Amino acid sequence: MEGVIDSVTRDLLTRSPGFDWVVTEFVRVVDARLPPRVFHKHCPELQAEGAPVTPSGVPVALQLLGSDPEALAANARQALRLGATGLDLNFGCPAKMVNRHDGGASLLRDPRRVHAAVAAVHAAVGDEIPVTAKIRLGFADRRLALACALATEDAGARRLVVHGRTRDEGYRPPAHWEWIGRIRQRLSIPVVANGDIWTLEDYWKARTLSGCRDVMLGRGALADPRLAARIRHWQATGERLPETPWGVRAAILADFAALQRSTLPDRVVTSLLKQWLSHMRQRDDEAARRFQALKRITDLDTLLEGLATTPAEPAAGMTASPALTV
Ligand SMILES: Cc1cc2nc3c(=O)[nH]c(=O)nc-3n(C[C@H](O)[C@H](O)[C@H](O)COP(=O)(O)O)c2cc1C
Repeated sequence: MEGVIDSVTRDLLTRSPGFDWVVTEFVRVVDARLPPRVFHKHCPELQAEGAPVTPSGVPVALQLLGSDPEALAANARQALRLGATGLDLNFGCPAKMVNRHDGGASLLRDPRRVHAAVAAVHAAVGDEIPVTAKIRLGFADRRLALACALATEDAGARRLVVHGRTRDEGYRPPAHWEWIGRIRQRLSIPVVANGDIWTLEDYWKARTLSGCRDVMLGRGALADPRLAARIRHWQATGERLPETPWGVRAAILADFAALQRSTLPDRVVTSLLKQWLSHMRQRDDEAARRFQALKRITDLDTLLEGLATTPAEPAAGMTASPALTV
């Protein structure tokens, strides 16, 4: 997820079991072949020995976003040369800026363009590495949902993730899991259900209504970093673990800051940390309280102190002095 799930976050999310694979933030392809540094920035895992995996061994697919088949193909070849072992094509991004420049979900208005993009990338890398795609149910409406899905399969995609909303629906609930099921019934490649899976119950409903064996987690994995592990545990044992307690979340946030701090300036880490805390507050009252109390803190150490204290013992910085407010 762009601006959210970088290599550090991928590392932290995959430290507990549950994820079978993860995807990078999208690499924006316009017309030129991009230099290796762009791929390495999005996917530092490419620089390690062997196939790109998280430190705990979960495969990392590299995502491309673009509309020009030739440019996508050139960048797919570049990614392959740099060691990518999975390429995912983004046809779901709803951002106005991206759509205005003819990328992401804007291609869903014409299944032939979806086909051309997937076919070009597939031809560029052959069957050496799998090409996968991610779509929404359409741009303004769902009329072309099936045609777009079939286009990805026909052009050589080996798996399709479907976010159960149109572009115009943005992130407004509900995600239409039953629509994902209609697509699944018509395709032979695996279809993965995505959208609004926040809890074990959501996971169950999404699987039941879509009929998909696999789901993709987005915001739900940030809101509860152990959601995938809780799903896996439920599958394996039938036991429902409760939502991840604040203590575990606070430890993850502390690790996140420590890892990010080794490469990024404190002010950037501060804002990334608040961003993740803000995702967590959707599912955790303590995270919501902390976010409220700490949102104006600009000093990273004060923020970390505020996250580390027990609920009964507010840190000095939690009542922000004017000097610390933005
Ligand atoms: C901030 C943000 C950034 C995202 N970036 C990407 C991206 O780079 N590539 C992609 O395929 N989807 C991206 N998405 C969409 C998510 O992968 C997912 O399809 C969507 O959020 C619905 O799933 P969820 O309800 O589980 O979050 C992004 C979503 C958000 C909220």
